[in-house]
Amino acid sequence: MNDTDPAIIVALDFSSLDQALAIADALDPASCRVKIGKELFTRVGPQSVRALHLRGFDVFLDLKFHDIPNTVAAACRAAADLGVWMLNVHASGGRAMLHAAADAVTTLESPPLLVAVTVLTSLDSVALHEVGVKNKVDEQVIQLATLAESCGLDGVVCSPLEIAGLRQNVDSTFNLVTPGVRPTGSSSNDQNRIATPAEAMRSGANYLVIGRPITRAAVPNDALAEIRLECSNARSR
Ligand code: C5P
Repeated sequence: MNDTDPAIIVALDFSSLDQALAIADALDPASCRVKIGKELFTRVGPQSVRALHLRGFDVFLDLKFHDIPNTVAAACRAAADLGVWMLNVHASGGRAMLHAAADAVTTLESPPLLVAVTVLTSLDSVALHEVGVKNKVDEQVIQLATLAESCGLDGVVCSPLEIAGLRQNVDSTFNLVTPGVRPTGSSSNDQNRIATPAEAMRSGANYLVIGRPITRAAVPNDALAEIRLECSNARSR
């Protein structure tokens, strides 16, 4: 990865396409990618992806599919047919589901990157135990990430504090996609386990998902440029 492969994915967490496009129009598609999540996609649908493609953006469709293998495979194919750059599933859907998802997209001419969510960062060990998982959170993250890797997925979504541990357990080509990133001095909002862009890059992240520090900035493209600079300084050290 280098500066021509933008590491920043801007989370367009808005309820209307107009709001999402107003921010997208303030950003340079050569400098970032964008993420569409469940709210915008549920309200607006595939039109949101098409509108961002027309503006030149690569789109991460963050719908976190989790269902029986056949259903997830069909959903992944439908997402790939929209031409998205990245999409995701829950690793806890299990080996057969992960294989089905990978098989559905890897045979395509230009396959999207397929990544897995390991343990939602909203869950702690107590919450995991309540759903029957005896592992500690960090053990469960590594278990699910290595499962996803063995099924042919391209990477996982993980918290910034999990990157270093994961990097020791997965191949260097396996992508680590990290939300919870906050530039020094910016508000943490509702994120608890945060890292700066430089810390995340240095510990081995490939892509950083950043929303409000960019989308709520007075000049979003300036906020993006500062974060990009911090990332490229961290990489060159
Ligand atoms: O505005 P902010 O930078 O907190 O946005 C982070 C984005 O990453 C949001 O779209 C959020 O849903 C997503 N995300 C997260 N933590 C996770 C998984 C996804 O913050 N564990």
